[in-house]
Amino acid sequence: MSGEYYLGGSEWAAARLRLQHELTKCNLDGHLLDPSIPPVKRPMMIADVGCGTGVWALDVAETAPELVQAEALDINLDEVPPKAWLPKNVVCHEFDLMQELPEKLVKRYDIINMQFGSSFIRDAHSKEVMARLVNMLKPGGYLQITDVDYSRWSWVTATGDTKPPEVVKLYELVDQTFGGFHQWKWLGDIETTFMEAGLQSIQSRRVEAKPSTRQPNMMNWMLAMLEAGHALSNHPTMKQHADALLAQRMKAATEARALGVGMDCAVTRGIGRKPSR
Ligand SMILES: C[S@@+](CC[C@H](N)C(=O)[O-])C[C@H]1O[C@@H](n2cnc3c(N)ncnc32)[C@H](O)[C@@H]1O
Repeated sequence: MSGEYYLGGSEWAAARLRLQHELTKCNLDGHLLDPSIPPVKRPMMIADVGCGTGVWALDVAETAPELVQAEALDINLDEVPPKAWLPKNVVCHEFDLMQELPEKLVKRYDIINMQFGSSFIRDAHSKEVMARLVNMLKPGGYLQITDVDYSRWSWVTATGDTKPPEVVKLYELVDQTFGGFHQWKWLGDIETTFMEAGLQSIQSRRVEAKPSTRQPNMMNWMLAMLEAGHALSNHPTMKQHADALLAQRMKAATEARALGVGMDCAVTRGIGRKPSR
């Protein structure tokens, strides 16, 4: 399943991604770039890989418009704003991280960000992906990966029951449908992943979800599951799973409203530096 992305393609995908970005930013106390990365004080090329709506690139470009040149890269640019609305220091390009790197991207960036790459990168391809990302960095450049910590998902209910049965069933169904949630060792042990990729000065963070993000996290997941159901129904080999997923999602959504279910969705972030020589 590595390399396949089962979300997107809905009219609200951009809004859902925006919500997810805002929740992540909130849980990371607003740090688009980790404080361990030195502040931008000279002109810098910054890439946002698998950019979705390009929101991270747009946000970071605003922090230092005279110094940051941001490039938002994604296999599918349907969710980015129209070109005419982009500031001068942001460009968007089609780019497939699962393919060989175009020569012009080698050693191009001072900083590379990738947020929620787990949606298309499983363990089977993590080493080649990491090698590609490191190859895109200039010597001395920084890689920052921010994602969900899948080992730390849990549900909370306003009634105190921590195991809402229909929500848990949906989680298990998704697990079976997509071949298991245990395909992200590369994220679970991000320090080792970064070390094996040859990065130095490695830092990692595991951040608990703030209570205020629980309910919107749950809504975001419910929307993602609706998107996944629609994507499955158009998929050549996965169609047969769509109806079951959408039916269970409906039960889970009803339960989430009745019980007041929230999602504790811890964030993980890794930062590493490419050796200067
Ligand atoms: C979950 S979204 C995250 C988007 C964005 N980083 C954010 O935080 O809002 C994952 C993105 O990865 C993109 N993607 C999927 N496969 C890709 C590939 N092979 N190369 C580059 N981007 C890819 C998808 O199109 C989607 O926009």
